[in-house]
Amino acid sequence: MAEHAPYPVGLRLAGRRVVVLGAGQVAQRRLPALIAAGADVLLVSPSATPSVEAMAETGELRWERRRYRDGDLDGAWYALITTDDPAANAAASAEAEARRVWAVRSDDATAASAWTPATGRSEGVTVAVLTGNDPRRSAALRDTIVEGLRDGSLAAPHHRPRHKGVALVGGGPGDPDLITVRGRRLLAEADVVIADRLGPRDLLDELPPHVGIIDAAKIPYGRFMAQEAINNALIEHAKAGKAVVRLKGGDPFVFGRGMEEVQALAEHGIPCTVVPGISSSISVPAAAGIPVTHRGVAHEFTVVSGHVAPDDPRSLVDWAALAQLQGTLVLLMSVENIGRIAAVLIGHGRPADTPVAVVQEGTTAAQRRVDATLATVGERVKAEGIRPPAVIVIGEVVRCTAGTAS
Ligand SMILES: C[S@@+](CC[C@H](N)C(=O)[O-])C[C@H]1O[C@@H](n2cnc3c(N)ncnc32)[C@H](O)[C@@H]1O
Repeated sequence: MAEHAPYPVGLRLAGRRVVVLGAGQVAQRRLPALIAAGADVLLVSPSATPSVEAMAETGELRWERRRYRDGDLDGAWYALITTDDPAANAAASAEAEARRVWAVRSDDATAASAWTPATGRSEGVTVAVLTGNDPRRSAALRDTIVEGLRDGSLAAPHHRPRHKGVALVGGGPGDPDLITVRGRRLLAEADVVIADRLGPRDLLDELPPHVGIIDAAKIPYGRFMAQEAINNALIEHAKAGKAVVRLKGGDPFVFGRGMEEVQALAEHGIPCTVVPGISSSISVPAAAGIPVTHRGVAHEFTVVSGHVAPDDPRSLVDWAALAQLQGTLVLLMSVENIGRIAAVLIGHGRPADTPVAVVQEGTTAAQRRVDATLATVGERVKAEGIRPPAVIVIGEVVRCTAGTAS
């Protein structure tokens, strides 16, 4: 007899009893989705993995520590039969059939009344794939669709609500793989992108020709006017009804003037979505194999901008206090002033032999690292011709360096 195709449906399980028999790997994988759907989950199993146990402890499900017995499916709308005992699975299956409860079975799909599709979600869309008896193919297809929705390569232009106004997107430190999924999707939907010098510039090449790309670094004004010109460009394009992405390096709110742009847009009533990014302050040390914290070595890390020298009256940094800390100091925008900064830290008590690593153009093909101590870093940076962008890491964590693939 020809196999009938399954009939796909989306179950709305909120508040409805779902019985899960067995708490092995299959159950562990399915439980989060059932909980997310708001199901009233009853788990019946003599034992459970620590993560399933934690779900019971936090009240996300009710757990009865015993084996299956007849009657467990009373009141259930849906059941997952996943015990390691084929006879119990068969008995539970028969009970489900008798009670007309849809049930999936992990040991014998052909004996089940329901199959679980490979599912994924992206921005409010649920993707569910059934390929009959080939779960790997279902998963691969699901991955392709979800990935395509996330990175924008699979467009659904007639139905997708495009973002209105401006999206302030943190692009990460430079490696195009280190932007967030949301940032990448918004970029794929943009009409206009205003990009900084730092960040994932390679992604701009992938944009279709109709997308207007404005290089913020080339806006021809002095340092302070440039920000105003950027704000004006954002406002002008958003008012023209374009989907505008302001692409920034790292995270928009870490020395990124992100809030100035949000405020300028708010003054014109333009909505702005902020998409956080991976800040260079953590990711660049990591790319060079340096953890900013390490158990028993550093219990804090402090991210500081060194763009203003310590003796400059405009400086807001208490270098004397920072010198007293034992933990990690991560300096951004400090290449020019590192000699004076190191001298002030030593002058206020940080040992001169404290290890220092300078990482230039982290996460990119041009990444390089120079090691020094507080006493030598000023000279080393000059001698090695270090240029911005660079992150400078000060502290014992520099000695913890592990080899990385980057
Ligand atoms: C204006 S700040 C912006 C920081 C950014 N918002 C972030 O969260 O990474 C620029 C500084 O970030 C650091 N930086 C950014 N990207 C970097 C990279 N790929 N390698 C080394 N340093 C980087 C440098 O210290 C640079 O001078």
